[in-house]
This record gives sequence, structure tokens and C-alpha cells, in this order.
Amino acid sequence: MSKPAAEEAEQESAAAQFKRGMRSLAGAVCIVTSSSNGRRHGMTATAVCSATAEPPTVLACINRATATHRAVREAGLFCINVLRHEDQALSMLFSGGPRAEERFRPGQWTTLATGAPVLVDALVSFDCRLVNSLDHGTHTIFLGEVERLQIGRKGKPLLYSDGQYAKLASPAHGEPLPEELDYWGE
Ligand SMILES: Cc1cc2nc3c(=O)[nH]c(=O)nc-3n(C[C@H](O)[C@H](O)[C@H](O)COP(=O)(O)O)c2cc1C
Repeated sequence: MSKPAAEEAEQESAAAQFKRGMRSLAGAVCIVTSSSNGRRHGMTATAVCSATAEPPTVLACINRATATHRAVREAGLFCINVLRHEDQALSMLFSGGPRAEERFRPGQWTTLATGAPVLVDALVSFDCRLVNSLDHGTHTIFLGEVERLQIGRKGKPLLYSDGQYAKLASPAHGEPLPEELDYWGE
């Protein structure tokens, strides 16, 4: 007989339970890049979000064991490239296997203001200067002030939810926010 879900949850470590809970979140898949000492680095990340619009600032939570983490720390710059739903192969490339320069072989890459690699066909790229960081556990929260923004042609984002890649059924769906509610709290 299978154990009740509550009993199973009790036997899980706190970290395993946390990870299982986090599977319920749907995240936009991004490639966070940096460039240090002439070498490009980049990795897939979903722990990315807006921090504030004034000044325009984003945050990314990056594992301290990654090569991209070291590059962001050294160079003080990073770029968040938001992937299209067609770009699952790029996401997989940047999350394992080949490292550093090899990951940049497919796709067209350029630079804007900081020198961090910018994916030419991203939905949007936020080219940032590192302005603050907070180490916590295995990760660092990097705060980046946006120096330049590249908004690409319209399209659907690549999503990651419940351990799988996913895409929106339609670009606009559900109800818009009531007019009196502002996402930015203004
Ligand atoms: C969909 C997806 C989302 C990920 N999100 C993050 C993230 O937000 N932060 C992080 O540190 N690693 C994240 N990872 C793991 C890194 O992409 C992976 O560890 C990568 O290989 C690290 O780069 P490195 O091999 O150069 O160290 C994610 C992986 C996948 C597949």
C-alpha cells in the first residue's frame, strides 16, 4: 500500500521537500551570461526576476559553484537573455555538457554596453552592471542595474515547470489586471 503523501513528505529532507515544492512554479527560461578576461561564460537560469523599475534593476540567483558565478564576480557585469519557446536546445546546451566558449557556438551573439554576451534573437536582453550581491547558502543573489535593453520581435517565452519545458497556449490569455491594480505598485 502506498504511504499517504503527508507521511512521505515528513521523511523527505527539508531541501528535497523545498525542491519538490518549487516544481509548482512556472519560470521563464533565461541564459545569464558574463565575460571575464576575454572569456565568455553563460548558463541557463530561471531564478531571475525584476527587482525594481527605478532604477531599472534585475536579480539573478546563481550557484556559487558555476563558472558564470565566478565571471560575474570578477567582471562585475552580466546579461539576462530571455529565451523564446523555440530555444529549448539552447537552454539544454547552457545547462550541462559543453562549457564556456563551446556553448556559444550555436545562436548569434553580440554585445551591447557592458561586453556581456547578448543573444541577438532573444525575446529581450537586459545588459547589466553588477550593483549589489548577497551570498546565501549555495547561491548568490546578484543585483544588476540595466545599462542597455534589447527588445526583440514578439514571441512566446520558453517556460520551465514541474521539471519540464513548457510553452504558453497563447501569448495573451486569461484576464488582464483590473485597471486600479498596478503590477509595479505605483
Ligand atoms: C531550466 C533550468 C533552470 C536553471 N536555473 C538555474 C538558476 O536559476 N540558477 C542556477 O544557479 N542554476 C540554474 N540551473 C542550473 C545551471 O544551468 C547548470 O548548473 C549549469 O550547467 C551551470 O553552468 P556551469 O556548468 O558552467 O557551471 C538551471 C538549469 C535548468 C535546466
